[in-house]
Amino acid sequence: MTSTPSVDCLTGARRPLAELTGLTPLVATTMCPDPQHVYQRLRDEHGPVAPVELEPGVPAWLVLGYQEILTVLRQEQVFACDPDNWSAHHDGSLPAESLLRPMMSPYNNAYFTDGERHRRLRAPIDGGMARIDQRAMRRAVAALCTEVIGSFAGRGEADLVVDYAAVVPLLAVADRFGLEPEVGRELRIALMNSFAWGADAEAARRRVMTIFADVVAARRAAPADDLTTFLVQHPNLRDDAEIFDTMMLTLVAANENTATTIAQTLRLMLTDERFAGRLRGGRLGVDDALDEVLWRDPPMTNAPARYALRDTELGGQPIRRGDALILGLTAANADPRIHPIGQAWLEVGNRAHLSWGAGPHACPAQVPARLIVRTAVETALHLLPGVRLAIPADEVPTVPSPWGRSPAALPVRFPPVAQESDEH
Ligand code: HEM
Repeated sequence: MTSTPSVDCLTGARRPLAELTGLTPLVATTMCPDPQHVYQRLRDEHGPVAPVELEPGVPAWLVLGYQEILTVLRQEQVFACDPDNWSAHHDGSLPAESLLRPMMSPYNNAYFTDGERHRRLRAPIDGGMARIDQRAMRRAVAALCTEVIGSFAGRGEADLVVDYAAVVPLLAVADRFGLEPEVGRELRIALMNSFAWGADAEAARRRVMTIFADVVAARRAAPADDLTTFLVQHPNLRDDAEIFDTMMLTLVAANENTATTIAQTLRLMLTDERFAGRLRGGRLGVDDALDEVLWRDPPMTNAPARYALRDTELGGQPIRRGDALILGLTAANADPRIHPIGQAWLEVGNRAHLSWGAGPHACPAQVPARLIVRTAVETALHLLPGVRLAIPADEVPTVPSPWGRSPAALPVRFPPVAQESDEH
């Protein structure tokens, strides 16, 4: 297909999104060996805000510039989170079966809400995160990681994504909600199944809701020192539905992003000699390693989304009311305008990356998220000495998605670790 240039060659004016064709698919930035190469090509062609295609016939702006992303995230009176403001929901351009719907449809929680309503729903999450006892959580996460590793340590081989990174975060956060370990495990499976296609998904969603309803009823009858009790007693949450929606948002946001960050940190450890050297007794600690991952390969490569509430201009592009803007966090972290010497992740201690977001919706769980990742990586390194990747580094598969570049599997081998006997 021939593409319509984004600049009118007669007038020099930039064209609005609806007039552009032949756009780069967003997945070209995630399903490729070097996303920065693709981002740079888009920058060269369009500047810090580039038109892309989310799915065939569904265009959006990809914000590549560091300053431009901050402008979008801080101006919620112009760029809203509520997907109901996206024109594609109203002009029929979004197919009913579109895979964009889960991330770009309105839901009743803080993430998809703006202004006063967002502040009301967000305060209980902030309050709950602030009350987490970090020492107690670190101990609980270390015990959980040890148990999970114990389930495969004797085998001498494992998939550190499927067997480990994908398991730990949800169980760690479910534990803070006061769910018993076996209920946490059941919740993890039910949540996974609830997002799949097919008849089982509805049953899984009902099971998730029953688990939430049971723990909420239990804490109402007998309060405890946990996140569920905090939400149940919070005056901002008006009914059980708002409590369940807040629990769901927190658990889902915790699960995907933290699992991916653990996987990316382990992946670097196993595939990058320089990084592995650092982690295993080198000058820099796991915290520095984690910062490097957050600069270079954050879990939300392209975060959905904001929706323009009025016509405006951003990075020289004409943004029209109802346009969707995708936050190119990986691109912005490497914006050449903020890194005159390049290689931002080598500036030890610099945490000015955008991987937690910014503005009113910035991740409320930065402290517990770091704690989970750090503990999971440290525990794996400690308990699996000699762990090695079982496939060539460039064959590590990636989960196909326009939003991220999460490793789908990290098959490893290690000297089998003898299991401790229960009979002491
Ligand atoms: C390394 C792991 C994590 C990363 C990189 C991360 C990143 C982010 C980012 C970028 C956003 C903002 C998205 C936007 O503005 O559109 C966000 C929002 C959020 N995150 Fe995290 N997150 C992580 C872990 C967690 C954990 C462990 C939890 C819960 C315990 C959590 C809970 C949330 C919630 C509730 C929101 C929505 C906040 C709002 O809309 O006001 N995240 N996260």
